[in-house]
Amino acid sequence: MKLSVQNLTKEFGETCAVKHVSFDLSYGVYGLLGPNGAGKTTLMKMMVDILAPSEGKVLLDGVNIKELGASYRDKLGYMPQEIGVYKNFSARRFLKYIAALKGITGKAADEKIEELLDLVGLKDTGKKKLGGFSGGMLRRIGLAQTLLNDPKILIFDEPTAGLDPQERIRFRNIISELSENRIVLLSTHIISDIEFIAGQVIIMRNGAILTIDTTENLLQEVEGRVWTTVVSHAELDRLKKQFTIGNIVQRSNGVEIRIVGDRQPPFPCKTVKPILEDVFSYYFGGNV
Ligand SMILES: Nc1ncnc2c1ncn2[C@@H]1O[C@H](COP(=O)(O)OP(=O)(O)O)[C@@H](O)[C@H]1O
Ligand SMILES: [Mg+2]
Repeated sequence: MKLSVQNLTKEFGETCAVKHVSFDLSYGVYGLLGPNGAGKTTLMKMMVDILAPSEGKVLLDGVNIKELGASYRDKLGYMPQEIGVYKNFSARRFLKYIAALKGITGKAADEKIEELLDLVGLKDTGKKKLGGFSGGMLRRIGLAQTLLNDPKILIFDEPTAGLDPQERIRFRNIISELSENRIVLLSTHIISDIEFIAGQVIIMRNGAILTIDTTENLLQEVEGRVWTTVVSHAELDRLKKQFTIGNIVQRSNGVEIRIVGDRQPPFPCKTVKPILEDVFSYYFGGNV
């Protein structure tokens, strides 16, 4: 299975939200990373055929998704950034309703709903009204809803927004498990969200794609270019003007900083193993 984005472009009046974007996705997890306003949501909406492109097209195995219509939607699971639910519905009733809309009814629907409530850890809250759900619980219901028709293409827009750390880990693990034999694209502005699960990273900024590469290659490129040292606050202010400073952690004896760059800084520091955040510090001075 191959999902190809070809020259996708979207203009909203004067604003060009997505600019001539092209890439191919096959099985695996792809992380779409970019700051707010980069165009992630607009790109995804065009990929799921709910927003018409100004230019360009999306092909599934060589066929335009516009021509595929319902047969494309059958293969697709899309979790929007804003999840709309019926507040007076219980989780079970809501999933049953959405299942019916997707043409899944009767025993098949009941079994699938129980399986998914279990998967997202909401089995015991299946009767509770959605109006009383936390943001994290709503995301989990959104995930269950997305998976009802067992889609082979999964598109998640900022799925980890509003999740607490435990829920983030659970979500990550569910996505990893699902990624076998599926195309999974997930957007985020939080680098650590995709560090462990995305095989490939697509970096987007101002509507354009800056880089697409495997996580491994990206890390490889900054190997030997990341240093760490402990400095005082005053020194940190001075160093910030000369070096690209990544992560900063307060320590009892000062601040521990990560420095990324091509040359070793001219003061005592040691090389460390890069993490994905360092890659972004290296390329974008820390501003993704
Ligand atoms: N319906 C719309 N009308 C006008 N401008 C829009 C609309 N949707 C998005 N934009 C603009 O397009 C740009 C990209 O937005 P968006 O795709 O939501 O980015 P992201 O999801 O990466 O935060 C932003 O500048 C945003 O203001
Ligand atoms: Mg968005």
